[in-house]
Amino acid sequence: MTHLFVPGPVNVDPEVAAAQTKEMLPHRSAEFEALFRGAEAKLRKLFYTETRVFITASSGTGLHEAAVRNLAHNKVLSCVNGAFGKRWHDVALTNGKDVDLLTAEWDEPISPDEVAEAMQKEKYDIVTVVHNETSTGMMNPIKEIAAAVHAADPDTLVCVDAVSSLSGARIEMDAWGVDMLLTSSQKCLALPPGLGFAGVNDKAMARAAEVENRGWYFDLVRLENHRVKNSTPATPAISLIYALDVQLDRIFEEGLDNRFARHSAMAKKAQDWALAHDFEMFAPEGYRSQTVTTIKNTPEVNVAEMNAFLVERGMRIANGYGPLKNETFRIGHMGETTLADVDKLLEALEAYLG
Ligand SMILES: Cc1ncc(COP(=O)(O)O)c(C=O)c1O
Repeated sequence: MTHLFVPGPVNVDPEVAAAQTKEMLPHRSAEFEALFRGAEAKLRKLFYTETRVFITASSGTGLHEAAVRNLAHNKVLSCVNGAFGKRWHDVALTNGKDVDLLTAEWDEPISPDEVAEAMQKEKYDIVTVVHNETSTGMMNPIKEIAAAVHAADPDTLVCVDAVSSLSGARIEMDAWGVDMLLTSSQKCLALPPGLGFAGVNDKAMARAAEVENRGWYFDLVRLENHRVKNSTPATPAISLIYALDVQLDRIFEEGLDNRFARHSAMAKKAQDWALAHDFEMFAPEGYRSQTVTTIKNTPEVNVAEMNAFLVERGMRIANGYGPLKNETFRIGHMGETTLADVDKLLEALEAYLG
């Protein structure tokens, strides 16, 4: 087995993987409804919400589309300081919305003050922002951004991508005022790819009910009409939901606080190692990710060769993303990965670097 120190997809525990082979069920059945009801209740705990969490047969990008199609009549403020914020911006544009960009340099966080300032000039239906920019290893200050948005205009909805952080870092959807919080299965949740999850609060549901042309597959009103009956409009990814249910039990067995602390300790270890070996971090202090460490490749190490060395030893890291390829490299430490695993990786990196 290769240990994937990439920021998703990550290794899946054998017990979780095996759950997918359980006998198939018709989705219009009492057995499926019980499975769905149980999994959704556990997801609400994980999202720190009393409201609802939708489970979709899609990856996270589908939920970028759901957010703009359901919650924006037209005006979107798109916060971009990395590749995935940029993707959400593209999704809003290609869905025909009127989108304004709020950019920061990729090595700077999104500033709540700048969001508030942009909102003085224009009225927005939604603000989109990525919590954990997987391309840069940056964590944006979501709690502060959400507070700034609500203070500037209580009608504007805050939509947050937590694809590479949810369940690896604490994000309290209700307490922080996040109106839609989305993630994917293949990262900190350590499930196979193929499921999307979206917490959507009542305020956002009321907006969706007024928005025209929401589409069909990701129509939140349609999803809600089925969710209340513990069901989905189209055929759900039943095998993945079996695995989800088992994994959520394992997550609560570890305990959320322990899980967040484990991710934070792994990040600290990776960062300390990099700084002690004359590397610099890409993200500034105070905004560094708990789930992926992005290291500047100032010594110009051959990243592909370093990774080939690691693969021979049963481990794999990630090159920099997009324009940061070879200028940075990334260590994903999420899901099932432990501090002992990170130690093993860092020892191998030391062996390579000499
Ligand atoms: C922060 C972030 N947002 C969105 C995505 C896209 O998610 P998916 O590949 O599940 O569609 C990714 C994928 O890496 C991501 O890291």
